[in-house]
Amino acid sequence: MTNRKKPEELRSHRWYGVKDLRSFGHRSRTAQMGYHQSDYAGKPVIAIINTWSDINPCHSHFKARVEEVKRGIWQAGGFPVEMPAMSLSEPFQKPTTMLYRNLLAMETEELLKSYPADGCVLMGGCDKTTPALVMGALAMNLPTIFMPAGPMLRGDYKGGTIGSGSDTWKYWAELRAGNITENDWQEVEDGIARSPGHCMTMGTASTMTSAVEVLGLTLPGAASIPAPDSRHAQMATLTGKRIVDMVWEDLKPLDLLTEGSFTNAVTAVLALGGSTNSVVHLIAMARRASIPLTLDRFDELARITPVIANLRPSGAYLMEDFYYAGGLRAFLGQLGSAIDGTQLTCNGKTLGENIQGAKVYNEDVIRPLAKPLVERDGLAVLYGNIAPKGAVIKPAAMEQHLRKHTGRAVVFKDYNDMSARIDSPDLDVDKDSVIVLQSAGPQGAPGMPEWGQLPIPQKLLKQGVRDMLRISDARMSGTSYGACVLHVTPESHVGGPLALVRDGDMITIDIDARGINMLVSDEEIAKRKAAWVKPIPKFTRGYGVLYLKHIQQADVGCDFDFLEPGYSEGAEPQTASGEPEIH
Ligand code: FES
Repeated sequence: MTNRKKPEELRSHRWYGVKDLRSFGHRSRTAQMGYHQSDYAGKPVIAIINTWSDINPCHSHFKARVEEVKRGIWQAGGFPVEMPAMSLSEPFQKPTTMLYRNLLAMETEELLKSYPADGCVLMGGCDKTTPALVMGALAMNLPTIFMPAGPMLRGDYKGGTIGSGSDTWKYWAELRAGNITENDWQEVEDGIARSPGHCMTMGTASTMTSAVEVLGLTLPGAASIPAPDSRHAQMATLTGKRIVDMVWEDLKPLDLLTEGSFTNAVTAVLALGGSTNSVVHLIAMARRASIPLTLDRFDELARITPVIANLRPSGAYLMEDFYYAGGLRAFLGQLGSAIDGTQLTCNGKTLGENIQGAKVYNEDVIRPLAKPLVERDGLAVLYGNIAPKGAVIKPAAMEQHLRKHTGRAVVFKDYNDMSARIDSPDLDVDKDSVIVLQSAGPQGAPGMPEWGQLPIPQKLLKQGVRDMLRISDARMSGTSYGACVLHVTPESHVGGPLALVRDGDMITIDIDARGINMLVSDEEIAKRKAAWVKPIPKFTRGYGVLYLKHIQQADVGCDFDFLEPGYSEGAEPQTASGEPEIH
């Protein structure tokens, strides 16, 4: 190949290759770790950003996988350097991993910037790790490849399958309604997560790893392989091999990402019945690449894209079934001309070439276009006097009689208020009521947690109610189900109209008309707004202060303003290229 980089053109050459005192220090310290010069001289240094942690069950196999990635890098003539990064563990990190997505993005960017990396392998998968790693890598734009954690095996309960999140909420509601016993509940706990890997419903993890594969940042087929499958280990080695060639070819993520590749990713997410969280993450990722992607684009595509993956929470199956049915390559093939196959991917081939020949082996899991799970509206973007800058709902995963609905608001001023009163027998609520949660957005919660699947009051559960209209400025787990209006923007904490809703106000939603409104006069809304008192900030020190100062709203992806391209506070860059000085 004529345009292959020369060794002296490698970024790491500045650390290792020049003859001066500084490079002596770098080489002697590399020797200290047991490497001979022949191990690394003139070779691409590949940073492996590994989000393994003892407290992240979704990445518990990454200690083994990273060795497989390294094996591939060695075999292809590279020098692997593992760099641990903050692990955002969805089940454990409080108040929410979303508070830290941008911190991991910053850490990724700064690791790549400050060390001698020529290219990188990103190892993630648990919800926010995927967008965070990609956002950080986009800022550096070194050759980059993503190695997804892969979904865990199907859950097992009383001879049937159970899925992460989706079946937790389902059986929790049954327990609260008195329909299952504590022993049954214990069996759910023991069988729902029984291998390494991320959630195996079409939650945020599977949605985002699939989106990243469609964007061309993983090898073809990588996102669907279950974590414990030996083919996942093979994929790790292949990923390590490929990144070395990407460095020599100087194939960078901004060469792959285009408006067309993001249209493909959004289309795929919609046809998968993917998580509403992907709206926030994909918009943030696109903005990092200076590619315009808006809420309205999601809505436009949702109106014409059928849901063809029969996966929970919208459908019946789990990611293991999806893999055996042909996986993402077969799924993309099934979407036909809705996918632009000309987009370039990290293996140097087009998306169309990568999916050529892929076959669907189970048409109940990956449906033909003529027999979709849902005709359209995998998600919908709503506007109105409650959400002037938009809100999101997932019509594919809710009871359809609530698509057009009017009901009386039952308002909780924050999460603690809701926890204290939701199950009270005195709560004035019925099945047609609209439950409203305030102060759950990016600034209000803070961190915009996945509280948006607001609980159904116990007294209604006992009456058999399993879905109600619920509204908040929170997000919702991608594994959740229900008529939950999310991401209301602007959020209540900054004075958005959601803060002005009161008990008893009539609220109306019309998904086909894309409307969400409180039936309150403009004069009354203005009066309430004038009386609104700005709440005090939730943090007084540390990272939280930085977060509150710079976090943006959900409609633009909740990135920090200073991390987006074009941001400037007027300071001169330290070096002309933005690269660090090497001392
Ligand atoms: Fe890690 Fe769901 S908890 S992906």
